Amino acid sequence: MSEVLLELHGVRASYGNIEALHGIDVTVKQGEIVCLIGANGAGKTSTLMTVCGFVKTRAGTITFDGRDITNMPSDRIVRLGLAQSPEGRKIFPRLTVLENLEMGAFIRNDRAQIQKDIDHVFSLFPILGERRSQAGGTLSGGEQQMLAVGRAMMSRPKLLLLDEPSLGLAPLIVLKIFEVIKTLNAEGTTILLVEQNARMALKHSHRGYVLETGTITMADDAATLLADPRVQAAYLGDGH
Ligand SMILES: Nc1ncnc2c1ncn2[C@@H]1O[C@H](COP(=O)(O)OP(=O)(O)O)[C@@H](O)[C@H]1O
Ligand SMILES: [Mg+2]
Repeated sequence: MSEVLLELHGVRASYGNIEALHGIDVTVKQGEIVCLIGANGAGKTSTLMTVCGFVKTRAGTITFDGRDITNMPSDRIVRLGLAQSPEGRKIFPRLTVLENLEMGAFIRNDRAQIQKDIDHVFSLFPILGERRSQAGGTLSGGEQQMLAVGRAMMSRPKLLLLDEPSLGLAPLIVLKIFEVIKTLNAEGTTILLVEQNARMALKHSHRGYVLETGTITMADDAATLLADPRVQAAYLGDGH
């Protein structure tokens, strides 16, 4: 339980001359659900994009599963066991549900196991099984989010990065998504979750980090953060 799976140390990242991450430290241990909460524009997506190698690390180091992955090409990072469900889902709208899931398994060629994993996604999200031959673009927002999570699972990641899985979804669908996050974690997948819905995220996580304009300002057990007056005032008030 205490083995470190992902470690960001002093990570800086920028877009042109504008620095989005000012040297952040984040640790995710094997078996944990860790959430990163913060307002719009705080740098949550940038953090995940930097871990995945889509945004360049300008300073600091990122290690994953004992390897230095700082500025490693994204496809190599996926092969090491890291997958992301990106903000806005980014499913392939013209491919069917089944084809979207197969795309998630692009690094694999173990056909029988891939089929088993597709069946597993359909057992977690039965609606996706019912819609397996439908184009991804015809799904509802909630179904597309399920598909994005399912697609990320298809590479059999050790660490799953989820960027705003609850954004724009009806409360019942949000509950369903978080239920599956718990199940995946219980099955052995470590999860780093980014959310503006701080309450839901903290309720379902072991630990959390608060990110404010590119700086980590708080890091603690999720229950401690939930009870913290500063967190409550800034992130858990009405409208959150
Ligand atoms: N592609 C981009 N080009 C330029 N600036 C960006 C880009 N993406 C994000 N930013 C800036 O980086 C900062 C952090 O954004 P982001 O990581 O998307 O925050 P969050 O996910 O917490 O809402 C913001 O100031 C945002 O405007
Ligand atoms: Mg974002």
